[in-house]
Amino acid sequence: MFPRPLFIFLSLPLFAGTAWSQTAATLRSAADAAGLNIGIATNSFNVTNASYAAVAKAQFNLVVCENEMKFESTEKPIGKFNYKPGDDVYNFASANNMKMRGHNFVWGGQSISAMAVVTNRMNGLSTLRNHIDSVGGHFKTKILEWDVLNEITNDGVNGGLKGIFWMKAIGDDYADSALVMSRRVIGTNGYLYSNDYGADGVNPKSTAIVAMAKKWQTNHVPIDGIGFQCHLTSPVNKADISTNIKRFGDLGLRVSLTEIDIKDATPADWTALMGACLENFNCVSFVTWGLSDANSWIGSSCGCLLYNGGTPTVKTNMYQAVMDALKAADPTIAAKRKAFTIIPAGSLGPTAALSYFTRPAAHRVGALGSANSPVPVFLNGSGTLVDPLGRVKTIAPSAFPAVDILPR
Ligand code: XIL
Repeated sequence: MFPRPLFIFLSLPLFAGTAWSQTAATLRSAADAAGLNIGIATNSFNVTNASYAAVAKAQFNLVVCENEMKFESTEKPIGKFNYKPGDDVYNFASANNMKMRGHNFVWGGQSISAMAVVTNRMNGLSTLRNHIDSVGGHFKTKILEWDVLNEITNDGVNGGLKGIFWMKAIGDDYADSALVMSRRVIGTNGYLYSNDYGADGVNPKSTAIVAMAKKWQTNHVPIDGIGFQCHLTSPVNKADISTNIKRFGDLGLRVSLTEIDIKDATPADWTALMGACLENFNCVSFVTWGLSDANSWIGSSCGCLLYNGGTPTVKTNMYQAVMDALKAADPTIAAKRKAFTIIPAGSLGPTAALSYFTRPAAHRVGALGSANSPVPVFLNGSGTLVDPLGRVKTIAPSAFPAVDILPR
């Protein structure tokens, strides 16, 4: 009789005080415990390989198409859509209870079908909208995070937008328009991101992205998250990346590490990168750009991913570093991350508070013609946003987005 209550008495605080994910056997279970999405870039062919698929579904809870949902993969020629590879990857994900990122709508690369027809503002906006309406419409209930914008920021110290064909044809509000168009079709089904490279730590480019994100928020252009591609080279500076993640958290934004590879990595580099993510509640997804070095776009001898070898795939000691970092995750931050990730996309607040806000006619009426009319933009109805961490953020309803989008 006596030993039993004693056992309960002693064991409760013991278990409660133990890092609760320490028994996790896979990256996936350890990441789940930390409230984190952990994923890989993949394709519709690889997920049909039994050994590859076994590792992918056991160790990861998220996938993204490395190429198959890009513009020219989903729409080529213009007006002809192909969703099959994306659907195949989604079916794999869904069958294994995994989430999916969508990559991407707007990019200067892998968009030759769009480049062939986009010559001016009007056909640029209509091509953009038709693509987002179609691809976004097809996948909208299947995708958690959308890279609406990919690599749009200038390199170097000047900030601003890169001169890609979308920008040249439409004007510098093309990015705002793409976000508004995306929110309109995707609604609150998915989080809208701008994703970029070379802006993982604090530098002029990432500082320009902070300014751009603030401008979007002030103008009520829908933005939910920032993607840090994290194509890195050893050594990785944990503090630098962590500080950068935090400054987007201070704006209420998610950060996802979207395309991680670390060239010639040491385990310490992976410890640093996962550590930088885990110490910020707003770092919500950690995605490597391929499962194995054998799949990497920068070459099979890059030493840049968590596995190497073809089939079956072999764990590297980078894997162990990531596992150890996950097991050491701070439960308090994990709890905050879990609270943060239930904020509905597009609202930064409870779904009930989400309402439409009608903005006046686009400011460049002349460019759009007389058919221009008001369009709805998502906004928290009261103008006051309270996130689960109790932070209050006020958006003045009098400020309107200075974006031109096609009339509905
Ligand atoms: C790369 C793919 O990995 C390659 O297979 C393809 O040939 C080119 O694109 N930034 C991005 C990704 O946003 O889409 C790129 O993916 C890598 C750089």
